[in-house]
Amino acid sequence: MTILFYTTFSDRRIWKKEIKKYFKNAKIISINDKKYFKDVEYAIIWNLPDKILKQLKNLKIIFSQGAGVDHILNLPSYNQTPIVRLKDPIMGDRMANHVLSQILNFQLHLTTYFNFQTKKIWVDDLELLTPLQNKKITIGILGCGFLGTYIAKSLKKLDYKVIGYKKNKNNRSYNFPIYFNKKINEFIKLSNIIVVLLPSTKDTKNFIDKKFFSKMKKNSLLINVGRGVTLNEKDLIKHLQSNKNFFASLDVFHKEPLPLNSKLWSHPNVIITPHIASITVIESAVQQMYLRYKKFKKTGKIISDVNLKNGY
Ligand code: OXD
Repeated sequence: MTILFYTTFSDRRIWKKEIKKYFKNAKIISINDKKYFKDVEYAIIWNLPDKILKQLKNLKIIFSQGAGVDHILNLPSYNQTPIVRLKDPIMGDRMANHVLSQILNFQLHLTTYFNFQTKKIWVDDLELLTPLQNKKITIGILGCGFLGTYIAKSLKKLDYKVIGYKKNKNNRSYNFPIYFNKKINEFIKLSNIIVVLLPSTKDTKNFIDKKFFSKMKKNSLLINVGRGVTLNEKDLIKHLQSNKNFFASLDVFHKEPLPLNSKLWSHPNVIITPHIASITVIESAVQQMYLRYKKFKKTGKIISDVNLKNGY
């Protein structure tokens, strides 16, 4: 068995070590081993160049090194090869922690206190800064897939009110109210905080734009941990300029790294993190890939984790 491994993550060595540990008898090749491309049946990849994918004619499964699969679907040579994406509870915990940290920062005015601290001023104006109770805060989860429902579950345990939005109705049952399709306005208006976990598809590009912002509460927080292209950054900057109680926490951007000349860097109401909200846990990622591979070998069947009609 031959596996092509490629990543733009910096921890290449650890990935290789873990792949060797689980896929013991596999030949693991890189994009420089062209003479073995014809033997490649499995690819474990992140940001593989299209010119390489084009040459892999015998692929059976593509494993994504992250939760997202747009780095595969956007490649012009991608055909219908089944894709296995990461659905890892440890990554779910990491994402839930990250989101909770941003909620608490907003709810408890921590950035405001930090700014006072830098000026050495003691402000205890309780009328201004008394935090709302969790049960009085409605958190809207925009995009209720694996990570969205994971976050919802952990926030509900802390007594926050959680609602969700999904474009398409499905048969899944959720233990929090879901607003489908045309109910988007209701969803936006009810939410004190919106957590965006939308995938990048042709329907979600710039989905969060000035129209969307105009329906959000004035004193509110938007957290984007999905994909940068779903948020119109220019509209956000304009919205921030005219709404001093509006805050944003952004982990993903149209262009990553975020360009130095972006106004988002220095806006006092914006927190920037460099796409680290839910970092892949390599050992458990490779273990999951191996389990899916083993099942495929046993049954001869693999159901892709991606619905090509929906584009994610
Ligand atoms: C992603 C990830 O898909 O971090 O962005 O897993």
